Amino acid sequence: MCYYFQKMALTTKFLLLVISLLCSVDAYKILVVISLPGRSHGILGEGLVRHLTNAGHEVTYITPFPPKNPPNNTKVIDVSDNNKTFKGDLLNLQNMMSKRADINSMYVMIDLCLEVLRSTVANHNVQNMLRDPTQKFDVVISEWLYAELYAGFAAVYDCPNIWFSSLEPHWMVLRLIDEMPNPAYVPDSLSSKSPPLAFMERVEELYNSIRGRFDAYYMSFWEDNYYKKYLVPYIKNKPVPTFEELKYNASLMLGNSHISLGEAYSLPQSYKPIGGYHIETDVRPLPKDLKVIMDNSLHGVIYFSMGSNLRSEHFPEKLIRRFLDIFAELKQTVIWKFEANLSDIPKNVHIVDWAPQQSILAHPNCLFFISHGGLLSTTESIHFGVPMIGIPGMVDQYMNVDRAVRRGFAIRVDLAYDMDKDLKKAINEMLNESKYRKVAKELSFIYHDRPVTPGAELVHWVEHVVKTRGALHLRSPALNVPFYQKLYLDLLALIIAFVLMVIFIASRIFCSRSVAEIQDKKRR
Ligand SMILES: *[C@@H]1O[C@H](CO)[C@@H](O)[C@H](O)[C@H]1NC(C)=O
Ligand SMILES: *[C@@H]1O[C@H](CO)[C@@H](O)[C@H](O)[C@H]1NC(C)=O
Ligand SMILES: *[C@@H]1O[C@H](CO)[C@@H](O)[C@H](O)[C@H]1NC(C)=O
Ligand SMILES: *[C@@H]1O[C@H](CO)[C@@H](O)[C@H](O)[C@H]1NC(C)=O
Ligand SMILES: *[C@@H]1O[C@H](CO)[C@@H](O)[C@H](O)[C@H]1NC(C)=O
Repeated sequence: MCYYFQKMALTTKFLLLVISLLCSVDAYKILVVISLPGRSHGILGEGLVRHLTNAGHEVTYITPFPPKNPPNNTKVIDVSDNNKTFKGDLLNLQNMMSKRADINSMYVMIDLCLEVLRSTVANHNVQNMLRDPTQKFDVVISEWLYAELYAGFAAVYDCPNIWFSSLEPHWMVLRLIDEMPNPAYVPDSLSSKSPPLAFMERVEELYNSIRGRFDAYYMSFWEDNYYKKYLVPYIKNKPVPTFEELKYNASLMLGNSHISLGEAYSLPQSYKPIGGYHIETDVRPLPKDLKVIMDNSLHGVIYFSMGSNLRSEHFPEKLIRRFLDIFAELKQTVIWKFEANLSDIPKNVHIVDWAPQQSILAHPNCLFFISHGGLLSTTESIHFGVPMIGIPGMVDQYMNVDRAVRRGFAIRVDLAYDMDKDLKKAINEMLNESKYRKVAKELSFIYHDRPVTPGAELVHWVEHVVKTRGALHLRSPALNVPFYQKLYLDLLALIIAFVLMVIFIASRIFCSRSVAEIQDKKRR
């Protein structure tokens, strides 16, 4: 009997050993680089880390937003110095209203991105990590930031690179894994246009893509410098790849996009849309006070938030008063995320300085969402099937809101000192018309009707890249075909040469014959 138990214990031990071995084989070391000091990028980065660590992997996370309680097997590399690059008033609402903010200018964006890149790779925490010779990774997931510098991490650790793209697919990212899509129906990354394009729009998109190529050359010049200065010194035991090689050598691109949020562009096999993965499957319960307010709002709740970068308190004082007057006339309850104290607040308005946005949107009494139209807010509004009044202020927000308006689940209101009238009109329209809500629900169905959740998809493809050592089979053959071959310019040259040769020979024969005839005539 005792012998039997001993044997069983041994077998169990053996089994446990095998299981733990199998598990440790399946746990990968992953480097995640998400460096833009914008809150929404922090949320996207945390989402990646959450899914990967839940799947049992070990993640090293380079971020300007070190999480307060990082998951167990996460090592955080703090690059919060990056937030110095967002100087002063770039994100101030009043500056945007008076059109003084210049974050919408491409040149400001480019310089901002270059500064974030440099500040990340030069950061002493990152340099310390690079200096550690025992540090190894199975794969790098790096944020594409109008720049490809982070492909250099994959060269240092001699492992595959996976791009993470935070916007809808556009030519600048697609050319890295496939080829430039046609600007006649795939607009620029921050363009508000959507196909079908009118004549002038097509011309403008062509111009954008040509000008964009020059911006890219300019950035590449600096990136190449940063690559040589901050990353190349750590590439050991192999020939140093050129920056140009690395740029086009990613195994995969994870895109924060989904067909329910964008257009049905054709995409290469190595592009995996995972839009919405940042939203947790189980919505956290509302805090008690908000739950009571929302449960008891018989006429429904309007949720108003300008996101985490813009602060509502920068709205001019008078405008805030007029907003409150509009809200006071409503039967509905308004929950306003507002980061300052207000006096004389109407009874139906609740000011919160922090809002559990997803939990509020998930509540059945939530009627609509007044938002800045950031990509995450727009995604969340589709996820929960809640229509939107969009007040775009910068970069991609115009595009998101315009797209939402075209789709039919949003109304756009522009930032201005007299925007209260437009807002009032929009609120009435939202309350009177059910069509916005209907479209939001339909898109929400499309969004949720996927074979697997975006989080599961993301984990699957990251593991697939490691298991297949770079997923070379997913690569588009277009990457290896030069431009002149795609357009058959070589064939064209051959045909032209042939035609010219025929003309030349024919003219020689004709000329010599006519000369002979003339001489013949003269002789007679
Ligand atoms: C993870 O951390 C929690 C505390 O935050 C702890 O209770 C738990 O045992 C840890 N799990 C592992 C696998 O280390
Ligand atoms: C930037 O990061 C530093 C270091 O964590 C922090 O002290 C500072 O408050 C941050 N600034 C902003 C604007 O977030
Ligand atoms: C390109 O990626 C593959 C797969 O990760 C890798 O084997 C190869 O060494 C990389 N090439 C260069 C030039 O870095
Ligand atoms: C708002 O007022 C409360 C108490 O009156 C104070 O504790 C809090 O710091 C104030 N908040 C802001 C943003 O001024
Ligand atoms: C919408 O409803 C408001 C009252 O909620 C009313 O004053 C307004 O006339 C209505 N507008 C339309 C276009 O039906």
